[in-house]
Amino acid sequence: ELQHGPFWKAALLCVLFLMVQVCVEVAAMAGPQGCPTDCSCNNQLSKVVCTRRGLTRVPPGIPSNTRHLNLMENAIKSVQADSFRNLHHLEVLQLGRNAIRQIEVGAFSGLTNLNTLELFDNRLTVVPSGAFEYLSKLRELWLRNNPIESIPSYAFNRVPSLMRLDLGELRKLEYISDGAFEGLVNLKYLNLGMCNIRGEMPNLTPLVGLEELEISENLFPEIKPGSFGGLSSLKKLWIMNSQIGLIERNAFDDLASLVELNLAHNNLSSLPHELFTPLKYLVELHLHHNPWNCGCDSLWLARWLREYIPTNSTCCGRCHSPAHMRGCQLVELDRGDTGEMQCSAPFIADAPRDLNISAERVAELRCRTAAMSAVRWLLPNGTVLTHASSHPRITVLSDGTLNFSNVLAGDTGMYTCMVSNAAGNSNASAYLNVSAAELNTSNLSYFTTVTVEVLSPRSEMTKPKTTTTTAGASTTTTASPSVFQPVFISTPTVLLQSTDTPPSRPSVVPGSKVTTGKPPNPASTSLDEVMKTTKIIIGCFVAVTLLAAIMLIVFYKLRKRHQQRSTVAAARTVEIIPVEEELPPPASAANIAGQGALTLPEIRDHNSIYKLDYNTHNSDYSYKPKLEYSTHKPNEDFKKQITYKKKKI
Ligand SMILES: *[C@@H]1O[C@H](CO)[C@@H](O)[C@H](O)[C@H]1NC(C)=O
Ligand SMILES: *[C@@H]1O[C@H](CO)[C@@H](O)[C@H](O)[C@H]1NC(C)=O
Ligand SMILES: *[C@@H]1O[C@H](CO)[C@@H](O)[C@H](O)[C@H]1NC(C)=O
Ligand SMILES: *[C@@H]1O[C@H](CO)[C@@H](O)[C@H](O)[C@H]1NC(C)=O
Ligand SMILES: *[C@@H]1O[C@H](CO)[C@@H](O)[C@H](O)[C@H]1NC(C)=O
Ligand SMILES: *[C@@H]1O[C@H](CO)[C@@H](O)[C@H](O)[C@H]1NC(C)=O
Ligand SMILES: *[C@@H]1O[C@H](CO)[C@@H](O)[C@H](O)[C@H]1NC(C)=O
Ligand SMILES: *[C@@H]1O[C@H](CO)[C@@H](O)[C@H](O)[C@H]1NC(C)=O
Ligand SMILES: *[C@@H]1O[C@H](CO)[C@@H](O)[C@H](O)[C@H]1NC(C)=O
Repeated sequence: ELQHGPFWKAALLCVLFLMVQVCVEVAAMAGPQGCPTDCSCNNQLSKVVCTRRGLTRVPPGIPSNTRHLNLMENAIKSVQADSFRNLHHLEVLQLGRNAIRQIEVGAFSGLTNLNTLELFDNRLTVVPSGAFEYLSKLRELWLRNNPIESIPSYAFNRVPSLMRLDLGELRKLEYISDGAFEGLVNLKYLNLGMCNIRGEMPNLTPLVGLEELEISENLFPEIKPGSFGGLSSLKKLWIMNSQIGLIERNAFDDLASLVELNLAHNNLSSLPHELFTPLKYLVELHLHHNPWNCGCDSLWLARWLREYIPTNSTCCGRCHSPAHMRGCQLVELDRGDTGEMQCSAPFIADAPRDLNISAERVAELRCRTAAMSAVRWLLPNGTVLTHASSHPRITVLSDGTLNFSNVLAGDTGMYTCMVSNAAGNSNASAYLNVSAAELNTSNLSYFTTVTVEVLSPRSEMTKPKTTTTTAGASTTTTASPSVFQPVFISTPTVLLQSTDTPPSRPSVVPGSKVTTGKPPNPASTSLDEVMKTTKIIIGCFVAVTLLAAIMLIVFYKLRKRHQQRSTVAAARTVEIIPVEEELPPPASAANIAGQGALTLPEIRDHNSIYKLDYNTHNSDYSYKPKLEYSTHKPNEDFKKQITYKKKKI
């Protein structure tokens, strides 16, 4: 007992010491209340803030009940898979203003409750589509100001829950796929401003729920009808400062819900008559800083503005020409002191002419007139077509011409071109007479007699030609006969070959020798021989295959043994090679300094996007008109505006 006493005491002390040490270690690792050492935590708000700590990676030990994690303004270069694995309650993740180049697939796995992901002001060159996999509740994604070069098809297909997508300032962007926005059926807000888009509007048709589109500061010399196809829910559209010189007739016909349109800071001198007629809810229109021509072409616009735009005219443009009108308000045109305007109804310079034509040809009925007048075509059956109509065969071209890609006999009738401007309207009509295609009997007879029996098993292409003579002949008349001649000559020989050795449908071909199981006697003897030889061949083949398989197995085993040895050697060599990592530019943290750390609510506001941008880039991006954008007040209450004025058309 005497001997045992001190021993037990020592053991107890030892255990106690170990326990204390473990406790101290755990406390040191997790910091007070389980907060990472580089961060400050607010347990009540479940918020963890680790801004401007020079972090180069996501710090470990973030409490699992965190709802809001701010890692902005650090030097994180890459986000590894499972970086946030246990943060199932995280709702807001702020990774803006880092140096992120790479986001691994699975980087955000586990973030099943994330609704906002901020990645703006980083160095991503691709959309990290693979990392979006499990973000089933994501509503806001911020990718603004990254050197992304292309947006491929289905880039956001994994996050159909997305409602706000900010792709602004992707200045290196070269390509947007037609399927880029596929799947974003819930998207309400999209920013594509300053994205280096040139010429064509990207395909936005998948965005059926889109309500706000910011696409300013790109380059769109012309806006064509169909540019906004599918955007029937769009309420606000900003296309400022994009050098728009021409908006074609009916270009906005798809935007039936539009409430606010901003065309300021462009190169517009006039707009086509009735451009805004389909926009029954439009109440806010910004036209300032355009070189408006206050002639007859703009008369309708002035009247329309007075009638439908309730705000004070400050929103709107001033005249640039003619010289005596320069500086006048566009909206004051033709009112009182500016004097009476002498305008006349549109003159149709190139009127449509009667046309006799045979079916299945290209045809056109011209209707060239002043560029800013409205043009509509009245078809014989009462249908009206415009430049924006999407008919499979008949289109109204930008110059007013009615173009038939393929006239049919049923198109016969009177066509009326109706042109209108502020002063009146003019009509011009023409009769289109489509006759059935001419027959060429000499070649048709050859065609029918020679090929009928031979062609019969071959179906599709040739069958209709043989049964109905008119259909067969019509195709020959559309092209010169010399083009078709070699085809006719060659068909019989091709078909004779096909009857001898039928590759695809052996049972249909009549008189073929090798058919099925019960042939007549003379064929059976030769068939037996054939069977014998095939059996021998198959036997040989099986033997050879078996041999090859055995050889393969042996070879594989040998190779595996060899590999085991060589990998050990390879591992050693890898250790020897010195790994040189690219050092981060030390300026990255210094560039960022200067603003408050927690500016999230500010960025959400559309207007302050510009302010923020102006602040952060004031050294390299000072741009005068930008200041003026802050005058557009965001008006969230659409319903109020809609009920303000409903137009009757
Ligand atoms: C603006 O349009 C005029 C013609 O209307 C053209 O001469 C000029 O080059 C255009 N300016 C820009 C910046 O596109
Ligand atoms: C437009 O503004 C002027 C002065 O800025 C003001 O006198 C006038 O009442 C305003 N008109 C409307 C319709 O708001
Ligand atoms: C079309 O055909 C009719 C009848 O053959 C003829 O009277 C008419 O002049 C033709 N029209 C044109 C434009 O060739
Ligand atoms: C009128 O004619 C056009 C052209 O042939 C056709 O596409 C359209 O369906 C017709 N409309 C009606 C109501 O029949
Ligand atoms: C008229 O339509 C046809 C067929 O779509 C097309 O080939 C032709 O270029 C069009 N004409 C004009 C002037 O665009
Ligand atoms: C042109 O046609 C339209 C529709 O048929 C008609 O309302 C209008 O009065 C016509 N205008 C002229 C000048 O014939
Ligand atoms: C239409 O064209 C056919 C054939 O060219 C002609 O026989 C017919 O008289 C024409 N009809 C009219 C109304 O011009
Ligand atoms: C019909 O065939 C004859 C003889 O080959 C040819 O001279 C004539 O041009 C053809 N007609 C048409 C409309 O192709
Ligand atoms: C069409 O007919 C002409 C004259 O009848 C003949 O010379 C020509 O070879 C024929 N075309 C074909 C493809 O047989």
